[in-house]
Amino acid sequence: MPDYKIAPSILSANFARLGEEVDSVLAAGADWVHFDVMDNHYVPNLTIGPMVCKALRDHGVEAPIDVHLMVEPVDDMIRMFADAGATYITFHPEASKHVDRSLQLIKSLGCKAGLVFNPASSLDAAKYVMDKLDMILLMSVNPGFGGQKFIPATLDKLKEARKLIDDSGLDIRLEIDGGVTRDNIREIAQAGADSFVAGSAIFNQDDYAAVINAMRAELAQ
Ligand code: DX5
Ligand code: ZN
Repeated sequence: MPDYKIAPSILSANFARLGEEVDSVLAAGADWVHFDVMDNHYVPNLTIGPMVCKALRDHGVEAPIDVHLMVEPVDDMIRMFADAGATYITFHPEASKHVDRSLQLIKSLGCKAGLVFNPASSLDAAKYVMDKLDMILLMSVNPGFGGQKFIPATLDKLKEARKLIDDSGLDIRLEIDGGVTRDNIREIAQAGADSFVAGSAIFNQDDYAAVINAMRAELAQ
């Protein structure tokens, strides 16, 4: 069985009690914290920045923080999130004029780097930078909001991304983000994903451990 990772998106957490929410979801068995950064420019919504990432580290969060940048441009935010304790930093290739340079910047700051592909974007931007990638993240909804429905065409795209990664022989995670639930996670894993972002499916339930355990049970089948 692949080394599956479950990454709750704190976009759906209660921001008035963010530290407790993150503690609870990690205690419930989450592997990573997925941290959605939106700028009301690249996407039509506004969320949280590096100060909040730093606050979570100062609060004692030791788990990997998976920073998903939905901002344009990206380089200043890469520097600030690296300083703030990010583990992974991923960005959308459309949001950087110099994708290779931005990836190198992430790596030079000691973080893991990834590219994020919108539902209608082809995977071409990954092809010539595979050696600089630690993650490919496929959006299975249009970025900007939690609680949307999984776009089924992403399953074929996952297979394509899985082949790209396997053919490269490189150690690159394949993450999926948007509309992941306990009901579709197995099908998504079968299409090639090994890392799963889930926001509303986890935080909209009272018992986080019950959802995460149900997801792991699906993955174990
Ligand atoms: C959307 C974000 C997602 C979002 C997922 O732009 O990137 O991480 O929080 O939320 P759900 O799991 O509710 O689709
Ligand atoms: Zn995200």
